[in-house]
Amino acid sequence: MHIEKIAEQLERTGYIVLDNPLLAILSAQLFSRCQDNDTQRFHAARVGRGLARKQVDAIRGDVISWLDDADHIDHAYLVWMEQLRNGLNATLYLGLFDYECHYAIYGAGAGYAKHSDVLQGRGRTARNRILSTVFYLNENWQVCDGGELVLFEPTGDSVIATVNPTFGKMIIFLSDAFPHQVLMANNQRRSIAGWFSAR
Ligand code: OGA
Ligand code: MN
Repeated sequence: MHIEKIAEQLERTGYIVLDNPLLAILSAQLFSRCQDNDTQRFHAARVGRGLARKQVDAIRGDVISWLDDADHIDHAYLVWMEQLRNGLNATLYLGLFDYECHYAIYGAGAGYAKHSDVLQGRGRTARNRILSTVFYLNENWQVCDGGELVLFEPTGDSVIATVNPTFGKMIIFLSDAFPHQVLMANNQRRSIAGWFSAR
């Protein structure tokens, strides 16, 4: 992990895209954990927090499963994120305290409308989200499969970056700086979305 490089670019542009930051074996294991034939683990994602929580397919069409530190594969991913957390706290003084993340599977035809990871909920963790991470698990993903992550400038008007969700890629961005959207996927789209929050 090149903490200095990540920190420098986060400071300069607010986001960074990394190609294959994880060991290939770990990426493959994470893919094997991100399978919704395990209906015990995955459930429809909901929008909002607390009483306002509701499932709205038109806004968000993925099924999710939170990582479980007791699982050795999930644990390995969380350890990597813990190193990132400590490294960024030491270089950028972000005061990152907590990290939570979930597997997400978007079926063909699903996406996630433009939103902010900070404003979407009034709950404790949503309000304090500082840094968002998304790790992609889509082998042989083609441009025609769609499902791009689109980052907008803070006003939400113009596009800053369009990211194809190809296998092994990770994006890290400041949660409050970029409204973003997941374009409709034409194929099953797998990822791990996570958030570092401050106290
Ligand atoms: C999210 C999100 C982006 C992606 O889950 O909040 O914005 O590319 N995900 O999956
Ligand atoms: Mn988001």
